[in-house]
Order: sequence, then C-alpha cells, then structure tokens
Amino acid sequence: MIIAIDGPAGSGKSTIAKLVAKDMGLVYLDTGAMYRLVTLKALNEGILGNDGLNELDKIKKLLDDLNIDIRENRFYLDDADVSEEIRKPVVSENVSDVAAIREVREKMVDLQRKFSESKNVILDGRDIGTVVFPNADLKIFLVADAKERAKRRYRELIEKGENVEIEEIYENILKRDKIDSTRKESPLKKAKDAVEVDTTSKSIEEVKNEILRMVNSNI
Ligand code: CDP
Repeated sequence: MIIAIDGPAGSGKSTIAKLVAKDMGLVYLDTGAMYRLVTLKALNEGILGNDGLNELDKIKKLLDDLNIDIRENRFYLDDADVSEEIRKPVVSENVSDVAAIREVREKMVDLQRKFSESKNVILDGRDIGTVVFPNADLKIFLVADAKERAKRRYRELIEKGENVEIEEIYENILKRDKIDSTRKESPLKKAKDAVEVDTTSKSIEEVKNEILRMVNSNI
C-alpha cells in the first residue's frame, strides 16, 4: 500500500504522516528531508550562493558520489547523522532552489521508489501523488493558511532552541511555496484524484482521524 501526502510547507504533512504510519504500521518516508540532505551537502561544500552559473554543474556533479542514508527516520550524510542540521533555517533558505533542478529530482525520485519497493509506505512531499506514485492507493493534499503555517514552524524551531523570527519564517514559507509551485520540474500541485484537507483550524488529532477514516475505507 502506498499513501501519498502532498502539500505546501508547514501544512502538517510530516506530523500527520508519522502518526498515521504509527497507527497503521506503515513505513514513513519524509521526501523533503532528502532534498534537504542534498542542500546541506552543497552548503558544506561551499557550492551555494557564490558561484552563479557553475553552481548548477557542481550540484549535478555532487550527485555522482552522494552518500545519503535513511534509517528509522534518521537522516545520514556521509555516515553522519544530520537529522537536526537539515532543519536549520539556512537549509530551508536554499532547499527549494536545489529541489528545482531536474537531475536532483530524478535521483531522489529513483531513491524514493526503490525505498518503497514491496513495503507499505506513507510518503510526504510535493510531487508524491503526481509524479513519484501516480497510482498511490490514497492521495491527500494538505493545505493551511500561510500565517498559521508560519506559526507552526516558528513554534517547532523555537522548541528546538533555534533563534528565529516569525516574519522570516513567514517570508521563507511564501518564497518556497512560490518556487515549489511554479517550477518547471514536478511543481507542487494537487493531483486530480487527491482529497484536499484544510488543516488551518483543525487539531492534529482531528486531521489524523480524518485521514485514518479515509485509509480504512480504502482498504
Ligand atoms: O517540512 P517542510 O514543509 O518545511 O518542507 P520539506 O517537506 O522538508 O521540503 C523542503 C523542500 O524540498 C520543499 O520546499 C521543496 O522545495 C522540496 N521538496 C520537493 O521538491 N519535493 C518533495 N517531494 C519534497 C520536498
């Protein structure tokens, strides 16, 4: 079984996907984290932000010997656990540009399909229901008001001890929404057969139960 959860930043995808996975005994794959791993690698190599045209070539090269691993919802880059580092604002700042590169997407989608082979999986991302698994058993498209999404992300980061401003987070969310939904390769959009759920004024519990009902009536 494949369940696809797509939607913009902060709409609640990963929180909900984790809870549904636990409840249903599914494997959870956070595909956004994979794009974050590539972005962190590019940042560590000093590729992003100062190299203009060469940047694209260098990022493509970096894919050839990319060493990433995902085990029990922890994310490894060159064998180091970077699960916390990939959530840092500097990664959020750059990830949408990296994720817009065709070669990056091809590699990640390939890995996502391999990871999901002969497993019951719930994946969250931007293009799961449209590109990665167009035949998914259930497709959910989560949305929420941008101000509410910024508040949620702000609370998460503050809890982790990050020094962030809510305005910056709000701007980053709007910027990523724009890049993600207007890019040429696999833009963020609702699949025709996806069920849209607006989480703005719903509790996590409510959304989880709504989705569990859909999963159960789908089996
Ligand atoms: O958790 P949050 O909503 O902040 O974002 P994420 O799921 O970690 O994804 C980070 C970025 O990766 C997104 O803004 C997209 O640019 C990209 N992404 C993508 O292009 N395709 C996916 N399937 C998942 C993420």
